[in-house]
Amino acid sequence: MVSTNPQSKFNNPTQFIEGWYWTLPSKKLKIGKVKAITLLGRNLAIYRGVSSQVVAIDAYCPHMGAHLAEGKVEGDGIRCFFHNWKYDSRGICVDVPSLGKPLPVCIKTWHTAEKYGMIWIWVGQEKPSLLPFVPELEQADCDYILGTKFVKNCHPNVLLINAIDAHHFNTVHNLPLEIIFDSQNFSPNAITFSNTTRGGDDSWLIRLIRPLYRNEVTYSMCYWYGSTGTVTLGPDFLHFYIIFTLRMIEGGKTEGQTILVTPKRPGFWGWVLNRGLLWLTQQVGNYFAKGDTQVFQTIQFDLKTPTKADQSILEFIQHVNHQKALTWATWDTVNYPNIQTLSTPSPEHGFKI
Ligand code: FES
Ligand SMILES: [Fe+2]
Repeated sequence: MVSTNPQSKFNNPTQFIEGWYWTLPSKKLKIGKVKAITLLGRNLAIYRGVSSQVVAIDAYCPHMGAHLAEGKVEGDGIRCFFHNWKYDSRGICVDVPSLGKPLPVCIKTWHTAEKYGMIWIWVGQEKPSLLPFVPELEQADCDYILGTKFVKNCHPNVLLINAIDAHHFNTVHNLPLEIIFDSQNFSPNAITFSNTTRGGDDSWLIRLIRPLYRNEVTYSMCYWYGSTGTVTLGPDFLHFYIIFTLRMIEGGKTEGQTILVTPKRPGFWGWVLNRGLLWLTQQVGNYFAKGDTQVFQTIQFDLKTPTKADQSILEFIQHVNHQKALTWATWDTVNYPNIQTLSTPSPEHGFKI
């Protein structure tokens, strides 16, 4: 897990970008249940109170350090197993039974949200920014299924760039199209890369389906917080949407989850069609994931010699390096004295962005 630059936030195994991170599927946390989770090196208890709201709270009771996931959900609060102190959904102590009154102590809680069938936690010091979403579906009501969960032997930032590594679409995935990306800042924490080429006229497959669409095949990525990527893929008449949401685990490795999404379609047949489309979307995702399986077990990422085809990768590295970084496990802000000193790899073959 070699970092491109020791000062780089990109591909740094001791830090991550402040943002929203996935935890568990919503359906795995029923009302009144609590679970222990470890997220980005920090231990939490996560529970669903009676109002259905998910609460994420630091794991250890301020009395004597018992893990709160051993305790019981009561209303929208949680009662510690050990000596029965109770904390409300803001982490404030509201009951110490042995004293008959609360003590002025509290535990840190974290913002949570639910989207695409997943519970997300805002890991950050500041107020939460936008939850990751597929830009094309921002206003749409969606159907979704959770796809594969996976672990890779490289940093999440490195895994994400696979989707904008224009060069490897031919060499690894035999894609008959040349892909050239145009990047845009979508929000302060998100960047999009969209294919601008039509191409593919020498492919029988593309020629076959060409009458069905006019413009270039849509292939666009939106990267959120350097950890979640939403892919929009397909010709005009049918777009597939795949979310790759990643988080760093011990040793700078990656644990990830795919989420397949499609806009809701009306009626029973709309529902049936969507099941089929989500299945198809999963096959598309699997096809691309499969080709790269081995390389991410062994890669020591270091983009020493970028070429023109690596331009989008360099732009993504720059984008990540300008995000806010937090420290693994403590979640404290990492202070970089001079962000301008964070440079992308030096182009040895005269290629600059
Ligand atoms: S350790 Fe939690 S109440 Fe004592
Ligand atoms: Fe790939």
